[in-house]
Amino acid sequence: MVKFGPGSRLSVREGQFNPQVARDLFFYYSTVLLALFCFRILIKVSLCLFQYYYVVRENRRLAKKIYKDIHKDYVYVVRENRKEAKRINALLHGNVGSYEESYLLHDAAANGQAHVLRTLIEQGANVNFRTPDWCMPLHEACLGGHYHCAQALIKAGAKLNPRTIDGDTPLTFACSRGSVSCVKLLLHHGISPDPGLFTKSPLHEACFNGRHEVVEVLIEAGADVETVDSQYGSPLHVVCSRSYPECAELLLRAGANVNATKNYETALHVAAKTGSAEVVQVLLEYGANINAKDISQQRPVDLTDPGSEVRKILTYRDAHPRHLMQLCRLRIRHLLGRERVKYVQLLRLPPLLQDYVLYKFLE
Ligand SMILES: *[C@@H]1O[C@H](CO)[C@@H](O)[C@H](O)[C@H]1NC(C)=O
Repeated sequence: MVKFGPGSRLSVREGQFNPQVARDLFFYYSTVLLALFCFRILIKVSLCLFQYYYVVRENRRLAKKIYKDIHKDYVYVVRENRKEAKRINALLHGNVGSYEESYLLHDAAANGQAHVLRTLIEQGANVNFRTPDWCMPLHEACLGGHYHCAQALIKAGAKLNPRTIDGDTPLTFACSRGSVSCVKLLLHHGISPDPGLFTKSPLHEACFNGRHEVVEVLIEAGADVETVDSQYGSPLHVVCSRSYPECAELLLRAGANVNATKNYETALHVAAKTGSAEVVQVLLEYGANINAKDISQQRPVDLTDPGSEVRKILTYRDAHPRHLMQLCRLRIRHLLGRERVKYVQLLRLPPLLQDYVLYKFLE
């Protein structure tokens, strides 16, 4: 212990040098300095450790996570960009030359400007150029019902059955437009009237818009009248929901099953709900089952408005049996089946009866 004051070791008398005091002072100072030095090193080391554990490590983890995230998205981001780049490249360097020029062909086809279209084709326009939604000039021509444009495009080597991203083909467009000439043109070039994989059904498209001339052409070309669309059911369901009696007649005459169901609902249920007396008459003529029950155990008559024409027709049918003649016709058609009903002449029936079986007398 250091004592100050008279008599202590550290008391410095004036003008005297005490080496003992100097040594002690040196010792104390160096100890303090050393302690401070060590303390600084300690702080530095702990800061380094702190930095390593909390900053570097965390960052590495974060870096890893970011890397993983990027890799997960790699497929989508890079690939999509490549596709987009390719598309832009095609637009810029396609056969046609420029973005605007390439759509001229689509425009000419959509507007039915056959001479403009031919000029563009002569100048080397790409007839199979497609928009981002995969629509080609032939789609446009058919959607507009422009026979001469469609013909020019096909002659110039346009693909006959490309589909858009919505699954539309030139044929489905021509059907929905009701263009008999375009439909015939495509069928003539060997396009099947039945829907391909991932495409819409031409028959449904024609039925949606009540295009009975097209329905007739498609049936003649051998279209399957029982093609089922998962959303809309059979073509018969479609024409009943939209009240197109001519189309219903054509489908049924070609052998469409009058009792076909979609979710337990027959075409008669649909027609009863729609309230179309004409369509209901046609369905009954072809032997529709008036007692069929839908998913909530309702008969078609239960779905009609009280006092409506359709309810009258259905209640009458309920109370009165069919004519014997009609029962025979339905029976013969049933026995022949859909595929063979057209061979009815081989039955050697009198022509009048043949026509009756084929519902020809109605014309
Ligand atoms: C439809 O149902 C009715 C009544 O059950 C039946 O008489 C008729 O033969 C059926 N028609 C077909 C094509 O299945």
